[in-house]
Amino acid sequence: MNGLNTRAVPAWIVGSSGLLAGELARLIEGHGGMQLTGAVSREAGRALREMHPQLCSMLETVDLASAAESLKDQLGAMAPGDEPAVALFLGLPHGHSARAWFEIAEALGDLAARVAVVDLSADFRIGDVGLFEENYGMEHPDPDGSQGFVYGLPEFWRSRIVESRRVAAPGCFATALQLAVLPAAIAGMLDDQSPWFLPAVTGSSGSGVAAKATTHHPFRHGSYKAYSPGGHRHEAELKQALAEWHLEAPLHFLPHSGPWSRGIHLSAALPLREEARTEELHAIYSAHYAGEPFIEVLPIGGIPELRSVVGSNRVSLGLHVRDGLLTVLLALDNTIKGGSGQALQCMNLMLGLDETSGLSRSGLGY
Ligand SMILES: NC(=O)c1ccc[n+]([C@@H]2O[C@H](COP(=O)([O-])OP(=O)(O)OC[C@H]3O[C@@H](n4cnc5c(N)ncnc54)[C@H](OP(=O)(O)O)[C@@H]3O)[C@@H](O)[C@H]2O)c1
Repeated sequence: MNGLNTRAVPAWIVGSSGLLAGELARLIEGHGGMQLTGAVSREAGRALREMHPQLCSMLETVDLASAAESLKDQLGAMAPGDEPAVALFLGLPHGHSARAWFEIAEALGDLAARVAVVDLSADFRIGDVGLFEENYGMEHPDPDGSQGFVYGLPEFWRSRIVESRRVAAPGCFATALQLAVLPAAIAGMLDDQSPWFLPAVTGSSGSGVAAKATTHHPFRHGSYKAYSPGGHRHEAELKQALAEWHLEAPLHFLPHSGPWSRGIHLSAALPLREEARTEELHAIYSAHYAGEPFIEVLPIGGIPELRSVVGSNRVSLGLHVRDGLLTVLLALDNTIKGGSGQALQCMNLMLGLDETSGLSRSGLGY
């Protein structure tokens, strides 16, 4: 016995020591139809458990070139066919993900078509070259869109994801912003001449695994601050989404650093075009998210809280209208629905698996 489940789709992760890679490995452990068979790291040779003590996996990491060769062998040994046969998750910093994918794709040649890819970085999220370069200060890695990446927010673009083999997973804040704003915006309820005020708070895991002054425990614990008041790059994803419905508005997203590790809380204040009651907006959001496995629109008066979503792929959403302003309160786990969970949700869709596989666990509660 080699421990391989031969009916499971083999999965690979690049950027193994990263926070999202560790979280993905944990989620895949609970996925009956997928099995982690490869992990890539700049520190090839270290086992996953050495990088992430919470994991059971002793899988030894390899470098990118060896991974490409192993993937080629893995795909070459499979029965011929057109369907995606291997899952590849890229968990690298912006800029590095695209380069890693190009290197793997070149090594695989025609076999690359059988790899379903989810990139967690921003490299393929923004189609508009100008908007991408303005926000990320680097050249767009795929200016003509020839790599075929689609945007991976299933609640709005599920059919595109199902038909694709390349997904750009949304940013963590960008996921919160779009889930909170789009139902009202698409329904034509929002005043696009007045500011849409979007303050949100994230825990320190949003900044990745490397220690930084802004994530250092003695400074972060017990403190609280805003950042990027002049505009944050995750606004670009909301702008791109609004443009699909020919909408534009003065967005004022204001991120904050909170003194916890996981979780984003957004308190969106959205000006309404006309007087409306909470019940009307609640009906719009409830209809929009009806049947969505991970979105919970709370009953009127309900208040989302981080403790009910952290550790899960769930999003909790509460609505209130007062004096012409719609308040949307939203909580999610940035590392799961804002990161690895959403990536796995998209991968499930591309592979034709149950969308919720590996993701049905409840929140931690405290
Ligand atoms: N954290 C979040 O809440 C969140 C949410 C959504 C999206 N994202 C995005 O998802 C990606 C991964 O996020 P993360 O939080 O897991 O980041 P992270 O903790 O910083 O991990 C990224 C990993 O990529 C590898 N890496 C780092 N620098 C590299 C370099 N210069 N060249 C090549 N590889 C490098 C490292 O793994 P090895 O040393 O093992 O190779 C590193 O641990 C990022 O693009 C991030 O912006 C993050």
